[in-house]
Amino acid sequence: MKILVNCALPYANGPLHPGHIAGAYLNADIFVRYQRMRGNNVLFVSGSDEHGTPITITAEKEKVDPYVISSRFHEEHLETFRNLDINFDIFSRTTYPEHSETVKEFFMHFYRNGLLKERMMVSPFCPTDGRFMPDRYIEGTCPYCGYTQARGDQCDNCGRTLDPQELIEPRCILHGTPPEFRETKHLFFQLEEFQDQLLEWLDTKTFWKPNVMAFTRNFIKSGLKERPITRDIGWGVRVPVEGYEDKRIYVWFEALIGYVSGARIYSRETGQDDYWKDFYFNPEVKNYYFMGKDNIPFHTIIWPAMLMAMGKYNLPYLVTANEYMNFKGLKFSKSRGIGYTVNEILKLVDRDYVRFYLAFNLPEGGDSDFSLEDLQNRVNTELIDKYGNLVHRITSFVVNSQIVPEFNVEIMDETDRTILSQAADAAANFSHHVEAVEIKKALSSWLELVRQSNSYFNDSAPWTLKKTDPKRCSHKLHISLYLIQALSAMAYPFIPSSSVGMLTTMGSKKFRENGINWDLTELAGSEFTPVKSDPPFRKLDIIKGNPNFLDLKIGEIVDVKNHPSADRLYIIRVNMGYRSAQVVAGLRQHYSPDQLLGRKIIIVDNLKWSKIRGEESQGMLLAADDGKTVSLLSPGDTAVKPGTPVKIGDYEYNTSGKIDIDKLKEAKLHIEEVDGTRRAVAVLDNEILPLNASGALFSSYEEVSSGATVR
Ligand code: 2FM
Ligand code: ZN
Repeated sequence: MKILVNCALPYANGPLHPGHIAGAYLNADIFVRYQRMRGNNVLFVSGSDEHGTPITITAEKEKVDPYVISSRFHEEHLETFRNLDINFDIFSRTTYPEHSETVKEFFMHFYRNGLLKERMMVSPFCPTDGRFMPDRYIEGTCPYCGYTQARGDQCDNCGRTLDPQELIEPRCILHGTPPEFRETKHLFFQLEEFQDQLLEWLDTKTFWKPNVMAFTRNFIKSGLKERPITRDIGWGVRVPVEGYEDKRIYVWFEALIGYVSGARIYSRETGQDDYWKDFYFNPEVKNYYFMGKDNIPFHTIIWPAMLMAMGKYNLPYLVTANEYMNFKGLKFSKSRGIGYTVNEILKLVDRDYVRFYLAFNLPEGGDSDFSLEDLQNRVNTELIDKYGNLVHRITSFVVNSQIVPEFNVEIMDETDRTILSQAADAAANFSHHVEAVEIKKALSSWLELVRQSNSYFNDSAPWTLKKTDPKRCSHKLHISLYLIQALSAMAYPFIPSSSVGMLTTMGSKKFRENGINWDLTELAGSEFTPVKSDPPFRKLDIIKGNPNFLDLKIGEIVDVKNHPSADRLYIIRVNMGYRSAQVVAGLRQHYSPDQLLGRKIIIVDNLKWSKIRGEESQGMLLAADDGKTVSLLSPGDTAVKPGTPVKIGDYEYNTSGKIDIDKLKEAKLHIEEVDGTRRAVAVLDNEILPLNASGALFSSYEEVSSGATVR
């Protein structure tokens, strides 16, 4: 049977983090590996989505061509997938010429069939540069929340979708000058023409997961409207129509066609030009699409409508989308220092451990949270203690006892019959769940059989039977080996290289002869000659100690004097409960002495003492600075006593001694919006953690914007 599996093309604009992998790629790879074990012929396609404004913005910042950026991340993504054993047949690129040719075919087909209509739109135009600007290139104040750095397409502070015309005091991010709003023509895809056909088709998708259906229905609720599919931008696939030379095709519209161009490129590269056709044109071939939840409407509405418009193409059979895997409740973000990239994790942790943990923690039913502590804990307790140890105990017992494992139907007892039927049930449940792309449920069926197999081996007590009943001992060892053979086969889609290692160690004849195959879950024909080996897994021990090197205390300002020889500085005396400290601080332009007296503040107590313009400074007051406003940090509870230690998250000061200013900066203190309130936080070991003292959190006395640095 042929199966097409398409995986959303990730933007080549930054490194992949666990959220990406858990959102779409790992579950797809597990599904594909399983289908191949069943003998199905799978075509597994993804690639780099290289166009779009996030990439051009990165390029403008680095002053290089966007192709330099997308090439860099394309290579990096290839490496990440390779390191994780996620094996696409092709990981294509949307800058390949065959991609633009395929896009052109789609485009011209729509154009000739009257599905692209020209309309006028009002767009921001930068007079400094003399060109139209993508919405994302315009910044200004959000009309809803007042955030001063809202983007023309969206406010990152309140999350609202915006139109650049709504921004207060809009400006171009490249030149800082205000844009004009001018008319420009674009081509609109007539999406509404497919509304009825789409609704009818969606009615047949009763087996889709509720999250996918909910997003889709929500999108259609207010009716489908025509959508502009060209943009005023210089980076992208050219528009094959006269008068559109300066415009490009909208990135989403062409990236979706990347599935088809990817399959075509694969076919050509493997010397079978028409290979892809059956996957798209034979209605018997099921097409699966994997993605994160933000991609749903593009795959359940826009892409099916495009395929309907093309006529003979297969529509998606199953569209499946995971929710988000977060890091301590926040979205992973390399640029903001939240969490780790996959490549960073792979430096610490074996690929199969990463795969196992991400699968165990897959955000299938709702968002999930990643942490290295949890990863270590799950891998050590679930994978190694329960499974790896069982495999090692069974194989090394057989090797050491030199017993030849032999199945003997005549001495089958009730326990044997029970475990064999449990194994058959587990394999059947596992298949059912993987086929429905319920990966976590499949893993649960496997874990259940791991548990049952442990009991079986322990209850069989071959170390006793060896002396009392050698025949039965040999029979039970054969069943035990069969159980770990079946478990390794089921585990193969999750932890491929470890499974291959274990099947080799247990000396599985079927594996030796036929390789990885679902037949390994069957008892019939199983034979074993285990070999001596080390335990299959080594326990993880990667969790570092306490990273908090900042000795922060609550202080109360009790005296303020002008510095005798520097007109920006004050000499401030701070009561810290057990002692008082003299601090030199550059606050004269921001606060009057009256405003400071009596205020509770945070003081860095382990900063090396220094002389500032001749006056000794015995610490530093923490203040936030967003470029406009400088503000001291204020405890949420004013009753908190001077001298109270300020923790970072749950970390108390790790007593590592005095630090200098450079070390202080490593803590990356800043203001971050959490649940609608701006809090003082520190980034320690890639985690964003709030400053807190006796339960009170900290904000700034004066309003500063989210992202303001604290020093
Ligand atoms: O969300 C994303 O990363 C998009 N680049 C996905 C595109 S999927 C499809 F269009 F190929
Ligand atoms: Zn806003």
